[in-house]
Amino acid sequence: MRFAKTAWKPGNMVFPAPAALVSCGEPGGLPNLLTVAWCGNVNTNPAMLSISIQPGRHSHGIIERTGEFVLNLPARRLARAVDYCGMVSGRAGDKFVAAGLTPIPVGEVSCPGVGECPINISCRISRRLDLGSHSMFLARVAEVAVDSSLLDRSGRFRFERADLLCYAHGFYFALGGRQGRFGWSVRKRRAGGNAPKRR
Ligand SMILES: Cc1cc2nc3c(=O)[nH]c(=O)nc-3n(C[C@H](O)[C@H](O)[C@H](O)COP(=O)(O)O)c2cc1C
Repeated sequence: MRFAKTAWKPGNMVFPAPAALVSCGEPGGLPNLLTVAWCGNVNTNPAMLSISIQPGRHSHGIIERTGEFVLNLPARRLARAVDYCGMVSGRAGDKFVAAGLTPIPVGEVSCPGVGECPINISCRISRRLDLGSHSMFLARVAEVAVDSSLLDRSGRFRFERADLLCYAHGFYFALGGRQGRFGWSVRKRRAGGNAPKRR
């Protein structure tokens, strides 16, 4: 099947994106949170990711001064809190309290993670790129904490149990189920096995 395309104005169209909560904080100040969709993996070895933040955000200054943040991946049930943290600035008060979220200590960085998120990724910034509307912070992953419910009895990571939230073009979505395993399209078909059908 081929699609009949319509030209669309050039814009951000790489969706779905994570709907993530970035937590940050500095000594003597309230910890803060902001929602980011502009984030992603950028390098495998060392593990690195990026977040892009507009310079006017309260969190931008905190992250720039401290050089660290935590990228927290929320589950679907936190959709309302995620939206709230993306609508209200930490300049107006404590967003952890207002959103009903708990700042928790995480490894390797001094700012808190979000207790209600099943995955907390502690990050240290290595570079800042000013791209126009946003500063892109490139960061090394210093530690990853995952809830033990996401590991099966063999210690394998079961991502689908996290029920993560994502964002696309103005709306929040939950992920669907697994559609296949990495490499399954080129794996040899076992008799009676579930190799993919070619279409
Ligand atoms: C779904 C969603 C995604 C967002 N993604 C980003 C982003 O990637 N970068 C950014 O600078 N702001 C983003 N925002 C806006 C900030 O989260 C928002 O301005 C927030 O209130 C800033 O908080 P602060 O001033 O306490 O730092 C997003 C908001 C929503 C609702």
